[in-house]
Amino acid sequence: MTFEKYLNVPIEELQDWARQQDQSDPLRHFRAQFYVPVRQNKPLIYLCGNSLGLQPKAALEAIKTELDTWQNHGVEGWFEGTQPWLFYHKYGQKELANVLGAQPAEVCSMNQLTVNIHLLLTSFYNPTPQKFKILTIAGDFPSDQYALETHLQSRGMLPQNALIEVAARAGERTIRTKDLLAAIAEHQSSLALVFMSGLNYYTGQLFDMPTITQAAHAAGVAVGFDLAHAIGNVPLQLHAWGVDFATWCSYKYLNSGPGGVSGVFVHQNHHDRNLPRLAGWWGYDEARRFEMTKGFVPMQGAAGWQLSTPNILSLAVHRASLAIFEEAGIENLRQKSRQLTAFLELMITRANQRTNKNWIEIMTPQHPDERGSQLSLLVAENGRELFDFLLHNHIVGDWREPNCIRLAPAPLYNTFEEIAEVGRCLELAQFV
Ligand SMILES: Cc1ncc(COP(=O)(O)O)c(C=O)c1O
Repeated sequence: MTFEKYLNVPIEELQDWARQQDQSDPLRHFRAQFYVPVRQNKPLIYLCGNSLGLQPKAALEAIKTELDTWQNHGVEGWFEGTQPWLFYHKYGQKELANVLGAQPAEVCSMNQLTVNIHLLLTSFYNPTPQKFKILTIAGDFPSDQYALETHLQSRGMLPQNALIEVAARAGERTIRTKDLLAAIAEHQSSLALVFMSGLNYYTGQLFDMPTITQAAHAAGVAVGFDLAHAIGNVPLQLHAWGVDFATWCSYKYLNSGPGGVSGVFVHQNHHDRNLPRLAGWWGYDEARRFEMTKGFVPMQGAAGWQLSTPNILSLAVHRASLAIFEEAGIENLRQKSRQLTAFLELMITRANQRTNKNWIEIMTPQHPDERGSQLSLLVAENGRELFDFLLHNHIVGDWREPNCIRLAPAPLYNTFEEIAEVGRCLELAQFV
């Protein structure tokens, strides 16, 4: 979709266009399924779903159901009621698999994201004296960097010897796929693993996961992705792409609440391999778990990576949220997301045109296939003032020092009219 012809029209025309777009939007009814925070009697324009997604109205009922079970059944809640807690990780499994393009047995909701990174590295990072390096991207989310650094140290490796970080070229903001592929080929003889984010939290760059996976496999190494910013944002085909493992969090685009449960994907190809793992009783063969015998026997598939008694209240919200994705369809959401983000891009381009300078640089790739919903803006002048001004006008993004504003329209609850309002506010910003 191109919005070029709208660069010079009055903002009122764009507001009209946006209202029409909202009226004909087949996903418009989903907004009513969320609580949109209100300030001074006005709903916020919430463009922060890349950090914490909004609360689905169904969350409260989902939690209440489990509180009632606890109230009425006590410990028997694990075995009684319409949905015994013992099998809770299975309840949203199909919906989760659909969001990831996976087989149900390949996915399991469990733990928190950084914990899962360590668990999966334990299984998939199997260094030898010749092949011991991990290839990743420079500037990945700090927790991923700390996980890699300390995981390597815990295996007796020096991160400075074992970590290859592929960076953007000088003067560029994002990383070229061909540079990633070249690095994989160059280090093939010493490489043990590729692990990186599928979509970068800071730049908003969506990586070409299938191509990276192919290259890693051609080099004889496994590949894993952190999908924190990709899941629920862009369609994924983890099974078909042959990705070996992945993990994510559910509190961003998946709207499953602050600190919501994470999950893992382990490709079917690995289910019958006896991979090393750090085990816990919840990953033990479910039929015999309560025999409490010695010697770990894993459950088949991703569920075998579980460690601990699951947090049922968190899983309940996750399940309610996944049901919304199942109903909306990830491909439909992506289609609307592309349009919302392109419309937002138009608003930024208009602001630059009005101020007659490159006031706001969009560092996120321009090509819709190379980004999700998020646009990361580098504001050359008065960035903090702009962020505060947007907030004052009920527009919520997030701020990253020294001059970055991230805005991420979420197709489940954001509207075109809201994006037009961002454009109107940018026209009013008189401090550049
Ligand atoms: C890409 C990425 N990795 C890791 C994390 C850390 O997640 P957690 O605190 O759930 O372990 C985040 C959190 O936002 C993230 O965005």
